[in-house]
Amino acid sequence: MQHCGRRPAPSSAERSTDCCGGCEGCREEPSPPGRPASPPATDSCSPTPPNYAACLAALGWDTLAVDWAESAVAATRDRYTDLQPRLRVRRLDFADADAVARELPPGAFHLVTMRLVLAFLPDKRAVGERVRRLLAPGGAWVVTTSLAERLVPERRGIGVSAEEVAEFTEGWGEGAWYDLGVGGVRCFVLRAG
Ligand SMILES: C[S@@+](CC[C@H](N)C(=O)[O-])C[C@H]1O[C@@H](n2cnc3c(N)ncnc32)[C@H](O)[C@@H]1O
Repeated sequence: MQHCGRRPAPSSAERSTDCCGGCEGCREEPSPPGRPASPPATDSCSPTPPNYAACLAALGWDTLAVDWAESAVAATRDRYTDLQPRLRVRRLDFADADAVARELPPGAFHLVTMRLVLAFLPDKRAVGERVRRLLAPGGAWVVTTSLAERLVPERRGIGVSAEEVAEFTEGWGEGAWYDLGVGGVRCFVLRAG
């Protein structure tokens, strides 16, 4: 992966306004088709296309999609598992530390993605610790999220605050972020290092 080199430490994401948004490495991440056993954790069950987990499976990742909503799990299973043999789907509340520890093997995931999910999970710091336990060495956590500060007050609950960014990026050895479009959602790529 060729990055432009402007990769801020995760704990300094807020001040790293010069992070790249379009270098080759960022466009490719997450990527590698054909890489084995790389299920994302909480990303999954968008009932309407495009379904992020199905896209990862199409790229060659062995993907496990999890979601706490039975309807979202059923919709993803019904619409995509016949099309994507690499895709499995399971109901799981990622806020439930015991359930995650019970149902997801530690160190088994090369990639965990959460697209438009993290804002809904309480205790972002604990979520980050939970994800680190799931990742294999060198694995990445890719969080795509709205930022509360960019949203009108009545919609801030679907974004993460600056304080929450500091919480969930804490404890990672390596990280970068980039915006998907001006004023759009932000994508964080974090590795334990
Ligand atoms: C805005 S949707 C995003 C869905 C999909 N990742 C996408 O990008 O289209 C948020 C999803 O997060 C799921 N979710 C919210 N809290 C959750 C939790 N504690 N555990 C697992 N999934 C959760 C919801 O059920 C919903 O499917």
